Amino acid sequence: MTDITRRNFVKFLGGSIALLPLASCSFLMKKAPGDLLKSQGLFPSDKDDLILAEGLKYDIVSKWGDKINPTSEFGFNNDYTAFFPIANDRGILWVNHEYPDVRFVSGYEKGMKRTLKQVEEEMKSVGGSLIEIKKDEQGKWSLVENSKYNRRLDGMTEIPLVSERPIAGKTKAIGTLANCAGGVTPWGTVLTCEENFDGFYGDLLHDGTVEKSRLGWEMFHKRSPHHYGWVVEVNPFTGEAKKLTSIGRFAHECCTVVKAKDGRAVAFSGDDKRDEFVYKFISSKKDSLEEGELFVADFVNGKWLSLDINKSDILKKNFKDQTDVLIHCREAGRLLGATKMDRPEDFEIHPFTGDVYLTLTNNYSKNKPETKNNYHGKILKIVHKDNDYLLDSFESEDFVVGGVDSRISCPDNLAFDKSGNLWVTNDISGSMINKDPYKSFKNNGLYYIPTSGEHAGHVFQVASAPVEAELTGMSFTPDYKTLFLSVQHPGEKSRSVSRPSSHWPSHGNDMPRPAVVQISGKMLDKLVGNA
Ligand code: FEO
Ligand code: CA
Ligand code: CA
Ligand code: CA
Repeated sequence: MTDITRRNFVKFLGGSIALLPLASCSFLMKKAPGDLLKSQGLFPSDKDDLILAEGLKYDIVSKWGDKINPTSEFGFNNDYTAFFPIANDRGILWVNHEYPDVRFVSGYEKGMKRTLKQVEEEMKSVGGSLIEIKKDEQGKWSLVENSKYNRRLDGMTEIPLVSERPIAGKTKAIGTLANCAGGVTPWGTVLTCEENFDGFYGDLLHDGTVEKSRLGWEMFHKRSPHHYGWVVEVNPFTGEAKKLTSIGRFAHECCTVVKAKDGRAVAFSGDDKRDEFVYKFISSKKDSLEEGELFVADFVNGKWLSLDINKSDILKKNFKDQTDVLIHCREAGRLLGATKMDRPEDFEIHPFTGDVYLTLTNNYSKNKPETKNNYHGKILKIVHKDNDYLLDSFESEDFVVGGVDSRISCPDNLAFDKSGNLWVTNDISGSMINKDPYKSFKNNGLYYIPTSGEHAGHVFQVASAPVEAELTGMSFTPDYKTLFLSVQHPGEKSRSVSRPSSHWPSHGNDMPRPAVVQISGKMLDKLVGNA
């Protein structure tokens, strides 16, 4: 099959988000399976294991350090996943690798002298993995070692910058990093989003302020911070990648694409930082995100505000050109009066109603008492009239508000199943798990929320994460028989490598390893509407 044919195949099998006609909404007639979870759902747990509701089982697909070919290993801290079918029993799985825990990845401990060798080990652990996986007769997926599709993009990969002009004098960036969540385009490519990019090479603000990084990579490699914080588009069949400056530079959690009525692509993305903004991008061409118009959200007035320098005197006065605006979206958004948000994370489009769902994870920092003290976050619904995503107006309403009553706190990643049920993971920070005000939620988890029927908006827990881990990056196979899920940063608060606080997935005395798992079973069939 040629790559183009494969891309069409992906599109056909549901690699894209295409709204289903309301007439085909069997979910409206069916009773939601929430009753099942009333008796078989989970209670919060603090056990060091991946615990699943009755009728669900898991197997590991790949874990940190697995050889994927003779020269590459599966990276660290896996996050977003996306499945691209090649045939019924074969596919390519894209997996993000967000950031290294230096103690595990390079052996650096506080007080040591930092070395180039350590930093380069860390650079190899981030970015993304492409792995071919194959299904056996029992429905279990496993890595095809040495497949021609297996490859890594990491902190050293050269990636072109698609931009109106060079950035910091360059047309190519070295490396992708901070790869948190992402999206899949209607034309079968994957979008991997660079989130907390300032942790690697620091940042250079619009007023010239230089901010140091957490990891100190800038001490070893001189690279412009302006080369990071973008959405990166990757062809999963060839590994070809490009950084799309059109969608702006900020802590991109995700980039969720939907087709507008005229066929152009519309992308939603949020800046996961306290009091930062929500963005919408409208492409100028079909099947491309390289050029178009970026907007920032004013939730007070329900308006998308254009970040086009030619439409705004205030932007013209403060920025030298459109690329300057895109590099400094935060400053531009503030000048336009965009609404400060409580850490926007993931977006998903409801497959039947077309509503845009967004998680706002929280707005709280124990070290910053001036923050809003929104401990538990919420899931918000954004509605465009007649699902016309090109409109510059919208309405929004709460879908689920986090807290003890709703039984979810700090919602993060979202995925819809074929029946329009929402699957949600949460992210209570490792330092706050099992402490007030998060005590009753115990470890992080995976939750199931029907959006219609008598249990609409009710939260049911279906998985509990190992100690200090976060569950992330859910994606389904096109038949919804398998759910891929990342288990990220188990044991992240370990005192040292020799005294880890989690041993998952070994169940022995080994150090913890982030891994991607596959979840299947009769309960999954019932929950998604396969049975
Ligand atoms: Fe990497 Fe916003 O989570
Ligand atoms: Ca996240
Ligand atoms: Ca998602
Ligand atoms: Ca998060």
